[in-house]
Amino acid sequence: MPAFRTILHAIAALVLLRLSAAAVEERRVADSPKGPAGAIIAVANLTGTPGASGRVVFNWYNNRGNVNVTLKGSLTNITMSHIRLRNMTLGNPIIAGILPRMVSWIPKMLDPPVSFTNSYTFNATFDARYLKMIRSDMTANTFLSLLGQGSLYVSVSTTGQPGGALQGPLICKGDCKSHTGY
Ligand SMILES: *[C@@H]1O[C@H](CO)[C@@H](O)[C@H](O)[C@H]1NC(C)=O
Ligand SMILES: *[C@@H]1O[C@H](CO)[C@@H](O)[C@H](O)[C@H]1NC(C)=O
Ligand SMILES: *[C@@H]1O[C@H](CO)[C@@H](O)[C@H](O)[C@H]1NC(C)=O
Ligand SMILES: *[C@@H]1O[C@H](CO)[C@@H](O)[C@H](O)[C@H]1NC(C)=O
Ligand SMILES: *[C@@H]1O[C@H](CO)[C@@H](O)[C@H](O)[C@H]1NC(C)=O
Repeated sequence: MPAFRTILHAIAALVLLRLSAAAVEERRVADSPKGPAGAIIAVANLTGTPGASGRVVFNWYNNRGNVNVTLKGSLTNITMSHIRLRNMTLGNPIIAGILPRMVSWIPKMLDPPVSFTNSYTFNATFDARYLKMIRSDMTANTFLSLLGQGSLYVSVSTTGQPGGALQGPLICKGDCKSHTGY
């Protein structure tokens, strides 16, 4: 009997594994942002607050990261938006400031905060020097490898929800390697 149950558990685990692999694959192909030949492209859908959502398109091209963020719905008192590393042990550290642009490793807030109804867009461009200014151990290669592992996410903070009113993981298009252009 216990052996039978073990087999059942193993089958259940395998089925779950296949289902989650299929889910990841589906999320990858459902998104088709455009990008130049050679770009590494990732997208994120931001959620977390009823009545608000966000869409992020990221590319790494010519040694630069380029992030476009479009928020929809409404949010009150946005203070910051970042790319962060999903690692609770490290306290989900900031990897790059999207809004406002950071001038040191110290998080900087919009002053005054920004509120919107309908939609709000912002963007950022950064290079390896910017990443290193924020975390001295960060290189472009480490950044891209964390991106490929699905460990990076985008967050939007408000005065009411400093821990993140909206967030979502950056999911690489395809294999997270350079694309042939489309
Ligand atoms: C983001 O949302 C769009 C529209 O709902 C969906 O098609 C897409 O698969 C989602 N992408 C990710 C990365 O979750
Ligand atoms: C961001 O938007 C600009 C202007 O529409 C576009 O040129 C750029 O390629 C976009 N970047 C990404 C990562 O989609
Ligand atoms: C979090 O970071 C620590 C220190 O770098 C590392 O040892 C650990 O493996 C990381 N955890 C995850 C889940 O990546
Ligand atoms: C990026 O944001 C700036 C304002 O910070 C704006 O002037 C510019 O048009 C935006 N560029 C894109 C490509 O959206
Ligand atoms: C937004 O900020 C203003 C002034 O900073 C404050 O009076 C107001 O209560 C804040 N609203 C919310 C919903 O946090």
